[in-house]
Amino acid sequence: MSGGIAAYKAASLARGLVKAGATVQAVLTEHAAAFVGPPTFAGLTGRPAHTGVLTDAHRVLHVRLARETDVAVFAPATANLLAKLAHGLCDDLVTSVFMCLRCPVVLAPAMHTEMWAHPATRANLAVLRDRGATVVEPGEGALAGGDSGPGRLADEDELLEAVARALGTASGPLAGRRVLVTAGGTREPIDPVRFIGNRSSGKMGYALAAEAARRGARVDLVSGPSHLADPPGLRSVRRIETARQMRDAVMQLCDDADVVVKAAAVADFRPASYAAQKVKKDDEGFTGVPLERNPDILAELGRRKGHRVLVGFAAETDLAEERGREKLHRKGLDLIVVNRVDAPDAGFNVDTNRAVLLSAGGGRSEVALTSKAGLARVVWDRVESLLDETRPPAPADASTP
Ligand code: PMT
Repeated sequence: MSGGIAAYKAASLARGLVKAGATVQAVLTEHAAAFVGPPTFAGLTGRPAHTGVLTDAHRVLHVRLARETDVAVFAPATANLLAKLAHGLCDDLVTSVFMCLRCPVVLAPAMHTEMWAHPATRANLAVLRDRGATVVEPGEGALAGGDSGPGRLADEDELLEAVARALGTASGPLAGRRVLVTAGGTREPIDPVRFIGNRSSGKMGYALAAEAARRGARVDLVSGPSHLADPPGLRSVRRIETARQMRDAVMQLCDDADVVVKAAAVADFRPASYAAQKVKKDDEGFTGVPLERNPDILAELGRRKGHRVLVGFAAETDLAEERGREKLHRKGLDLIVVNRVDAPDAGFNVDTNRAVLLSAGGGRSEVALTSKAGLARVVWDRVESLLDETRPPAPADASTP
């Protein structure tokens, strides 16, 4: 715990974890202890709550605590704590333990809206996410001092769920499964001002990621630029811009994935060169934007498929099923979701969709107009059967922070 008014909720969280069967070790910063005293946590957890790095100095307390930990939860994580964790400062017990952890890390930020929105906090969170920490986004509501807005510690149930997911003990039909979802469109820069992009909003991919998390999976999301908030309960969200950045993120994350779902609209081409200065409209030498091919991420995954279930999307305007089937086979997929993008109520940037699901085994099913959340449920039902047919669940997560 670090020092914010939400420290009082950490007492209830500690109790909830104990009730769920965990052995809970409370570690408080000096400021957290000013909000809620260590005896409260000692009483709730049945173990002394620690605040000082010099307690038990001969046994190197911070190293010992970190080694004994299966999952570390930082709740509340103040803006100051996030900054220290992102930069590797360790000037107290909480930060020193963090530096020694080799288990999953769950961060539950809580702070005033201004601090939450500050670019420094956003950048620190991006670093921590990039290193594998799960961030349970704060909710919106009453804050200290009579204020209200985004920044309030996430609900206890959401935090307990995130801990279970980090431990690989979440319940649900996808518990123990590792899922990678891509969403949104990529942007291929022409100059500092312009890019080649598409109309993908991320809605379809975010709905798929949220549904997988609800079903207990450990979910990583790689997203192109999107205005949507991170879906709750994900292990990580990486935001990228270009197809090549998406490829790198996917290749880093796919190794231990049981399922990869590529709902992203990836630009097939990018400008062959990038103009470092803005191209002026009266530049007579400018004759157009020569293009070169981007990597086909899904086809690359298909070539090194291994045990993974691979699901692609096909965004089509004509000959939809025919083209979808061709992509299913050419890219080595198990399943492809063919959706038309020329109707006003389906495809890009709307809340609804309709699709035809084609599977490698020859299966075909139609999904009539429904919400993107509804289509996500159908897709995961289908993936669950594919997983059941072939692959037992993986053992619990042991990734490092
Ligand atoms: O984000 P929304 O606004 O909700 O819109 C959702 C959507 C229409 C973008 C989504 O439902 C969808 O259809 N996504 C796939 C878009 C697409 O790129 O389709 P495609 O037919 O061009 O590509 C086929 C598959 O190959 C896709 O899974 C794509 O992610 C993948 N691909 C394509 C090109 C490339 N260079 N690398 C890839 O991995």
